[in-house]
Amino acid sequence: MNSTILFEPDQLSKPLNWTDLFGRSGPVEVEVGCGKGRFLLGRAMEHPEVNFVGLEYARAYLRTLAERAERLRLANVRAAREEAARFFQEFVPESSVSAFHLLYPDPWPKKRHHKRRLIRPDFLVDLRRALVPGALLNLATDHRGYFDWMLEQLAGFGESFEIEPRAIEGPEELATLAGRTNYEIKYAAAGRPLYFITGKRKGAA
Ligand SMILES: C[S@@+](CC[C@H](N)C(=O)[O-])C[C@H]1O[C@@H](n2cnc3c(N)ncnc32)[C@H](O)[C@@H]1O
Repeated sequence: MNSTILFEPDQLSKPLNWTDLFGRSGPVEVEVGCGKGRFLLGRAMEHPEVNFVGLEYARAYLRTLAERAERLRLANVRAAREEAARFFQEFVPESSVSAFHLLYPDPWPKKRHHKRRLIRPDFLVDLRRALVPGALLNLATDHRGYFDWMLEQLAGFGESFEIEPRAIEGPEELATLAGRTNYEIKYAAAGRPLYFITGKRKGAA
């Protein structure tokens, strides 16, 4: 597909050069599993000075995201069909990302699949390396087991991440939720408890 939004990391240098990718410098935020881009594109419109990278496996979602970004003439969005763990391990330059968003990732509920969860020690090592001091960590899940798992994994990185967990469980509170992503809208409407971890990369800026 011909697109100014989509890129193939394997065709570019390792690690990536964000300035070359966007054709300009600026802070970089990454969203993993951005779907059709509701959150990513909304944030890109609100923060034109920031460069946004979306990673999404599903080709059809990625195509929709690219079409929308092009229609909106967003010069600050790029997206790739790339596995997140590999992307952070191989392509993201050290201390170069100012926010990491992971909203409603696949929870892999079966015990034998827990190793497929993205928030695991090897990924957190790469994430810690990628984030600038003070960078924002923005995680959400509807799965209590994955929430507890994330907290457990992050506890092993207490010297690197400062975090604040929060649960929204009551229907009244859920009804007040803005609905940042398609899944968040769907889950909140269904009255499903939702769990959030916001935080930041520790260290002097
Ligand atoms: C449950 S959906 C949530 C989509 C969106 N964040 C939302 O809240 O509406 C999870 C998405 O993450 C994508 N995904 C899962 N694991 C991924 C990975 N390791 N790298 C990139 N995308 C991934 C899937 O293709 C899917 O579209």
